[in-house]
Order: sequence, then C-alpha cells, then structure tokens
Amino acid sequence: MIRRLFRSQPAQTPVSTPEERAAWAKPAYGKDAARCQAVCYSAAPGETEWYPPVMAGAETFALDAASAAMLKDALEIMGKLSPDDYTRYLTRFYTEGLKRFGDDWIYADIVTVLLTMSRALKPQRYLEIGVRRGRSVCTVASQTPGVDVVLFDMWMKNYAGMENPGPDFVRAELKKVGHTGKAEFIDGNSHVTVKKYFAENPGTYFDLITVDGDHTDPGAAEDLADVLPHLAVGGAVVFDDVSHPAHPGLAEVWRTQVANDPRFSAWTFADAGYGVGFAIRKH
Ligand SMILES: C[S@@+](CC[C@H](N)C(=O)[O-])C[C@H]1O[C@@H](n2cnc3c(N)ncnc32)[C@H](O)[C@@H]1O
Repeated sequence: MIRRLFRSQPAQTPVSTPEERAAWAKPAYGKDAARCQAVCYSAAPGETEWYPPVMAGAETFALDAASAAMLKDALEIMGKLSPDDYTRYLTRFYTEGLKRFGDDWIYADIVTVLLTMSRALKPQRYLEIGVRRGRSVCTVASQTPGVDVVLFDMWMKNYAGMENPGPDFVRAELKKVGHTGKAEFIDGNSHVTVKKYFAENPGTYFDLITVDGDHTDPGAAEDLADVLPHLAVGGAVVFDDVSHPAHPGLAEVWRTQVANDPRFSAWTFADAGYGVGFAIRKH
C-alpha cells in the first residue's frame, strides 16, 4: 500500500497577543553543538562538508509515527506499565481505532512519536520535563534500555485530577521495560531546576528531549527555550498537547519556538487526540 505524506497543522490563529509572544523566553543557541550520529552524515577527513549534517528530517519518520504498526507497539508497551484511568482509556481508544480503521488509521501521539524517534535515533541521553507516571520515559527506555535519562518534575499533587506518585514509582516502571541506564530525577519547578542543571552542566547535549511539563504558554515557551540549545544536531525534541482544547496556546508556542524556526525540521499532528509535535535539529 502507498501511504501519502501529510501534514496536520493545529489551528493557525494564535490565542496569544504579539506582545505576549515577544515576552516569551527565547533559546540562546551556542556556536557548536554535539551531533546525534544516527541521522548525520560527515564528509571524509579532508573532503568538503557541502551540506548541513542531517540526512533525514521529520518527514522521514512522520509516517511511521502515525502508523497502525506503531500504535500496536505502543499498546504492547503500555500493557507492561501500571495502568491508571488515562492509560486505560487510551488502551481502549487505540484498540477501537485499530478495529474500525485498521492500517488506514492515521493517528499519532507522544507515545508513537517517542517510539519512532527512539528507534531511529538510538539516544544515549534523554531529557524529559514532565514525567508524571513515567509513560513517556518508559517508551524511550523500552527501545533503548541503556539510555541515560535526566527527568524533571515537581510532582504536582492531583495532576489533571490524577495521582502523581513520584520518582520511586517511575523507577519501578522503568524496571518493567528493562531500563539499565542511569536515571537522574531532578525534583522541583523546571523554571529553576533546568536552568540550574545546565549552569552546572554547560556542555551537555541530549539526543532526544520531551517537553511536557508546565502547560501555560509562557511556561512551556521557557521550558523549550531552556532545553533547545542542549539538543544535539540530528537530535529530536517532542512537544505534547499541541491541539489540547484546554491549552489552545501551545500550538503557537510550538510554532514560535520550534516549527517556524529554519533550524528545525518539524512535523505536527493535530488531527485527533491532544496532538503532538516533533522536530529534528538541523544545525
Ligand atoms: C502531562 S504530565 C507528563 C506526562 C508524561 N510526559 C507522559 O507522557 O506520561 C505533566 C507533568 O509535569 C509536571 N509539571 C507541571 N509543571 C511543572 C513545572 N513547572 N516544573 C516541573 N514539573 C512540572 C507535573 O507535575 C506533571 O507530572
């Protein structure tokens, strides 16, 4: 079967004002960055480096991220984790979609994107802001068990009406998917802890980064601004909830900080569910 490439953009009309957007924190990129070699090409020593190093942008991976095959794998991974009300709903939602639409179903979310990108990039280092019960980090660890993970959360009680059990629970979940790498939990408000972490680890780069913590527009923009300069060239950033009805400003945060920046090759899914975006850093 031939599947077509597609782009499903979230609503283009921003809910924020130009003044509000101008006040959002902006990423301060350094001159050089480490490379995630899985998608990079380097000229032989002494030869000219004609192109920017990244060989495969988001379009190479978007079809996989929205495929029925990836959803089936996502179901299998979620089946290994302790369920809660949300993941029970998600399991039924995936199952019903696969039953109704089969291989024609085009659906993506943070899990299918992280599955796709962790397979593609084979990350050695993964950073996440917004961990909750560990569903997203476990998705990454299930594909690359040796990955070292740095996890930021303030473990807000009763998050979205659900319990938020904290690092010990997430450590146990990571074991269930066979994680063998290091897991560093950094507790507290990301707007303090992420800056402190990078002040103490200035030359640190990550192959894969998820931003899924503070869902206010300026807060999410600040989280992206803090982590993006530490994404390796060829690495990917994943941003959740770009079409979440309760967070209508996140689509513009994603566009402003990432998708409209020529430094990135971005893909955004907003057709169904809460939406998700991912982007590969090109330079
Ligand atoms: C949507 S949940 C993360 C879900 C997880 N990524 C997943 O896919 O299962 C958001 C998490 O971000 C955390 N959070 C929200 N604002 C934060 C902040 N300013 N600093 C640190 N963590 C924050 C909450 O405690 C919550 O656990």
